[in-house]
Amino acid sequence: MQKLLIQHSPPLQGTVKIGGAKNSVLPILAATILIRDTCTIHDVPHLSDVSMMRQLLEVFGVKSKVSSSDVIADSSAIVPASAPYEISSKMRASILVMGSLLARVGKAVVPLPGGCAIGSRPVDLHLKGFAALGAKIKSEHGYVSATAKKLYGAKIYLDFPSVGATENIMMAAVLAKGQTVIENCSVEPEIVDLANFLNAAGGDIKGAGTGTIRINGVQELHDVEHSIIPDRVEAGTFMIAAALTRGDILIENVLVDHVRPLIAKLHEMKIEIDTYDNGVRVRYPDELQIKGVDLKTMPHPGFPTDLQAQFMTLLTVAKGTSIVTETIFENRFMHVGELKRMGADIKIEGRSAVVDGIAKLTGAQVKATDLRAGAALTLAGLVAEGETEIEDVYHILRGYDGLDQKLASLGANIQLVGTE
Ligand code: EPZ
Repeated sequence: MQKLLIQHSPPLQGTVKIGGAKNSVLPILAATILIRDTCTIHDVPHLSDVSMMRQLLEVFGVKSKVSSSDVIADSSAIVPASAPYEISSKMRASILVMGSLLARVGKAVVPLPGGCAIGSRPVDLHLKGFAALGAKIKSEHGYVSATAKKLYGAKIYLDFPSVGATENIMMAAVLAKGQTVIENCSVEPEIVDLANFLNAAGGDIKGAGTGTIRINGVQELHDVEHSIIPDRVEAGTFMIAAALTRGDILIENVLVDHVRPLIAKLHEMKIEIDTYDNGVRVRYPDELQIKGVDLKTMPHPGFPTDLQAQFMTLLTVAKGTSIVTETIFENRFMHVGELKRMGADIKIEGRSAVVDGIAKLTGAQVKATDLRAGAALTLAGLVAEGETEIEDVYHILRGYDGLDQKLASLGANIQLVGTE
């Protein structure tokens, strides 16, 4: 099994380039099923989740290949099949093939995603959307199926602005007959990227990025070339690393608007931030002693839940008390127990964690419980006294392309050891 070995590191300095967004490339790969042609997708990060999504697509007849950071997917022939449990049980995003399969072949059968470390992760809003479009929903033996000879546009109001449900319903509606309106939908940047991809393929989607998306169904989609937006969560992770290690990092290939919630929080802590057309520089002012701030995760443009764990690491060594409230997932504090093994002073009270800043974390053997918790522990290891050993790093490798090498290039003492 692979592990990360991290020693206390000097302030990180230098330049790092951000890759394409995991949470954009996964739905866009699923959307290739809709296109009876070839899609060329640029700026695809090398992640195990991307490989797993490509394996899943192959089950349905999508042939894809990787060349450098491009994925070329040929979906001219799609075969109806069930998504295999082995893949779906490892990757929740497998549910995102449902909307495309339903629209392309009239049937989608996928394992009901089990829970995961951060919560039960239900898919009721996805299924309600498919049913509104005319699909018959059945769930048995741990699988859920959606079938429809034809899908018809409908008005759908999401009880919660779910990212996945918005994406899945958009993919199902793009070939439906008539207009679909999704209200109270997610406004995350990845929704806009998916809509741009589908429109470039001949779709007719308006309003992505706002709370109401209008989709006029079209007959067919055609071949498309698309570049994935930069990963705002990877960018945010490095921005937090600069503040935490009292460093000075230029982070390139960042859409500044996508990281504004984090910029605002770091500004509150008096961290210096310069923004450029295509990047952000984060610098720790010499005399500063950072003070804690309160944090509440919200749907975009609020503070992203995917940066909550990493930001909590910063708060563990900031002066004073901070309250972190997680409103998106019911169990996204798995990193707290591990940070406490490193000496952090954190108490969980319902959906909030009360963090009392301490002078220094100490290195320890810890486990990555989920992707972003793993990132939080990696950052903690950079400033902890002594050595930190992180197990179950496969969680981290799912969502970060070369995190260890990128951190090492900035001066971090970090090594990925062991075999896959
Ligand atoms: C996406 O997950 C992201 N994953 C997550 O990133 C991210 O944390 C999340 O959006 C929120 O921004 C991908 O894009 C692949 P949701 P998703 O549906 O779509 C509830 C990471 O670390 N809900 O917006 O699963 C759900 O239980 C990952 O990169 C329902 O109740 O998120 C949760 O509490 C983690 N019913 C809340 O909504 C539903 O049908 C947010 O879920 C769907 C969701």
